[in-house]
Amino acid sequence: MSAFDDIFKLALERGFYFPSCEIYSDTNAGFWEYGPNGVKIKNKFLDLWRRELVRRDGMLEIDGTQIMSKSVFLASGHLKNFSDPVVKCIKCKSSFRADKLIQDQAGIEVPERLQNDKVDLLIKENNIKCPNCNGEFSTSERFNMMFKVEIGPNHDEAFLRPETCQSIFVDFPRIFKVSRGRLPLGIAQVGKSFRNEISPRQGLLRLREFYQAEIEIFCNPNKLDDLPKFEDIKNTILRIYDKQQLVEITATDALEKGILPNKLVAYYLSLLVEFFNKTGISNKRTRLRRLSDDEKAFYSSIAFDLEVDTSFGWLELVACNYRSDYDLMSHSNTSKTNLYVMDDDVKVLPHVFELSLGVDRCIYSILEHSYFIDKEKEDRILLKLKPYLSPIQAGILPLLKKDEFKKKSMNLLSLINKDFDVFYDESGSIGRRYRRLEEIGVPFAFTIDHQTIDDDTVTIRYRDSMNQERIKISDVKSFLALHLSID
Ligand code: GLY
Repeated sequence: MSAFDDIFKLALERGFYFPSCEIYSDTNAGFWEYGPNGVKIKNKFLDLWRRELVRRDGMLEIDGTQIMSKSVFLASGHLKNFSDPVVKCIKCKSSFRADKLIQDQAGIEVPERLQNDKVDLLIKENNIKCPNCNGEFSTSERFNMMFKVEIGPNHDEAFLRPETCQSIFVDFPRIFKVSRGRLPLGIAQVGKSFRNEISPRQGLLRLREFYQAEIEIFCNPNKLDDLPKFEDIKNTILRIYDKQQLVEITATDALEKGILPNKLVAYYLSLLVEFFNKTGISNKRTRLRRLSDDEKAFYSSIAFDLEVDTSFGWLELVACNYRSDYDLMSHSNTSKTNLYVMDDDVKVLPHVFELSLGVDRCIYSILEHSYFIDKEKEDRILLKLKPYLSPIQAGILPLLKKDEFKKKSMNLLSLINKDFDVFYDESGSIGRRYRRLEEIGVPFAFTIDHQTIDDDTVTIRYRDSMNQERIKISDVKSFLALHLSID
């Protein structure tokens, strides 16, 4: 089985994630639900994101609506530009995403904004045929990926947002005013976005409804190198991939060598990398890839993708786009609202640098990078998650199903279950119970045994080493607090 299949099986069997509406045959592809363990790991991942980026940098977080007015997307350019090339088979009438077909059948990477006639030429030159019936294709068309919705009895047209950040741009003047903001100012948001993908696939990797955690940093374009807090990250090591070459370099050297354009971009990329270093995703299997001009999104003038190496190859987790004044300028023009702000007595239309993170892909990547089969221990499966990201942080396991064991277990449970995610399990052999906990990444199992009855101590069993130690029940809470702390 591939790593993807292993994770998929684990996800279904242990309630991390599974297809939406799965008991119905008319369920659509590209919609997935998080189960109890998935929600817990997602929440902890987002807590870490808030800690390492939002709070660390003093950003402000908002929570905007998912349905937004048509004007927003006229201004943002999504109505015109947010589309993928599609082709239809003349014989069997199936539709496909043209760039993916070309990639699958000819191994050619098609740039995001390649014009239709060039797409058609690639299809012709490479003899691309319908994968279902080997038929020929019509000429390509653009398919807009936004979901349209109708509001009220008049069917007013509106859209599900394809990126959360549009609320941040539209809300910017109010947030800046009420928070008495100063540039640079980061505004963050976690929420659902929606894209009508032509071929959603690979579980959490390409969804039609998905979570984003986005940060938009509003800055003065004349002060991109005036950033005292750059000192905090000047020695952070970045792995930058540009023009087929990977360099490992400090933020300072990357600036000096012109690999990064300015201190502001270097600072926020460094915060992002420092955050990812804490997720358990192997640092050596990540990189910041600089995008070429024809790969960038239509609003982006400088773009880096934070990518991770997975069993599918390199996968984009965070799009880091210097969006310049593209968004504020177009919202200002379309809404006829002045979006200039004062920065040290000078009027400025802020530029934006964004860190747009795909939450679901991150969760998948964390699971894949944590998944181990322990060949030396009867092929036990374990998720070596960072303890602070584990869905369940402690297991409580009475050795025997006897009243006095249960009573001690309940004492321990009530001592810690308000502060930690705890799982009580009394069914099956102790070995099987350890295995069940290891599979969902529980870092510590506390076993109530004969000695507990005598002296109120329990054993702690460590997930990775399987070592065991004794500890007083009264010390378990402080043990967990210490071992689940992030730094
Ligand atoms: N906001 C950038 C994106 O959604 O890709």
